[in-house]
Amino acid sequence: MKINGIPYRTIWPTSDNTAVEIIDQTKLPHIFTTLRLENMRDAERAIREMQVRGAPLIGVTAAYGVALSMRDHASDTALAATCSVLLASRPTAVNLRWGVERMRTVLAPLSANERADAAWQEAARIADEDVSINAAIGRHGCEIIRAVYQNKVGQRKKDSVNILTHCNAGWLATVDWGTALAPVYAAFDAGIPLHVWVDETRPRNQGASLTAWELGQHGVPHTVIVDNAGGHLMQHGMVDMAIVGCDRVTARGDVCNKIGTYLKALAAHDNGVPFYVALPTPTIDWTLQDGVKEIPIEERAAEEVTHIAGLCEDGQVRTVRLTPQGARAGNYGFDVTPARLVTGLITERGVVKADAGAMRVLMP
Ligand code: MRU
Repeated sequence: MKINGIPYRTIWPTSDNTAVEIIDQTKLPHIFTTLRLENMRDAERAIREMQVRGAPLIGVTAAYGVALSMRDHASDTALAATCSVLLASRPTAVNLRWGVERMRTVLAPLSANERADAAWQEAARIADEDVSINAAIGRHGCEIIRAVYQNKVGQRKKDSVNILTHCNAGWLATVDWGTALAPVYAAFDAGIPLHVWVDETRPRNQGASLTAWELGQHGVPHTVIVDNAGGHLMQHGMVDMAIVGCDRVTARGDVCNKIGTYLKALAAHDNGVPFYVALPTPTIDWTLQDGVKEIPIEERAAEEVTHIAGLCEDGQVRTVRLTPQGARAGNYGFDVTPARLVTGLITERGVVKADAGAMRVLMP
C-alpha cells in the first residue's frame, strides 16, 4: 500500500540484509517514522510494546526475530531460547506461535552453520506469503461486497455499501493489504461505491488512529464512530455488512478478536446485518474448540484505560488522565464471538461457514 504515494510494506529487510525495518505504529497517525530491529530482543520489544501489532504482522515479526537471533547464536540452545522468548511476547494471536513454530521446524534439522541464511530466507518467504494470502482474501471478499452492492441497486437504494469494521485489520496489521480491509481495498479499486464505519476501538484506538489513517491514505470514504455507536447505526439501516479481522479462530469457528467485537456481532445478529470475519488460514488454531473457554485473553496495563494520548494544539503528542486518581481499571484485550453469530469466514481459500464441518476444507 502507499503512504503519500510511496509503496510500503509494514516490515522489510534492510538493503544490506543486516536488520529489518518496521513502521512504528505507536506513533501513528500523527508521526510517520520507521524503526530498525537489529536483534531478537528488538523484535520481541516491538511486538510487546505494539510498535507492530495485528495477528499476521506479529507472526512475521516473530519469524524475523528468530532470523535475527540466528545471526548471533545458532546453536540448538539458542534456537530454543529464542523461540520461548518470542512466544511469550503476546498471548492471544495464534499467528505468533504459527510463525515461530514454522521457523523452528525449518531450522531444527539444519546444522548451526546453515541456520542463519535459511532463517532469513524462511522469514522472507512467510512475509511474501502473507501478502499473497491477503490479496486472495481481498478478491474473495470483494465478490461479497459486489453482491451486496448489486442487491442495493436492485432495490433502488442509491447510497454506497456501508461496511462496519472494528480495530485495525488493514494493511498495518499484516505485511500488506490487510485481512478485513483487503476486500474493502479490492472493492474500492474495482469502482464499487463504498463507505466504512470505523469503530474507534478503545483503549488503544487502533480504529481511530490506524484504520482511519490507512483508509485516508488510499482515499476510501470513512467515518470514525465511538465504539458504542454500531448498534444504533444497524437499527437504522446504516450498516449493510460488518467485516472484522481476528487473532485466533477455533476449529469449530469461534472467533477471537479485539475487545468489543462480540458486542458488534450481537448487534449485527439482532438486526440481520451480515457479519463476516476475514482471516488467513494460519489464524485457525486447530487444537481448540470452545473459544470462550480455551483462548488465552491478553490483559494489558491499566494505564491504557485510565489515560489517553493525542495531538495537542501546539503540535506535541501528550498523554492525559481520564479517570479519577486511583480508580481501578480492567484492560481485557480481546473477546470471543461464538461461531453462531458469524455469517462467514473470508479466507484465502474462499468463503466458508464458521462451523467444524465446513471448515475442514481449510485444514493444512
Ligand atoms: O491488539 P492488536 O492491535 O494487535 O489487535 C489487532 C486485532 O484485534 C485485529 O483485528 C486482528 O489482529 C486481525 S489483524 C489482520
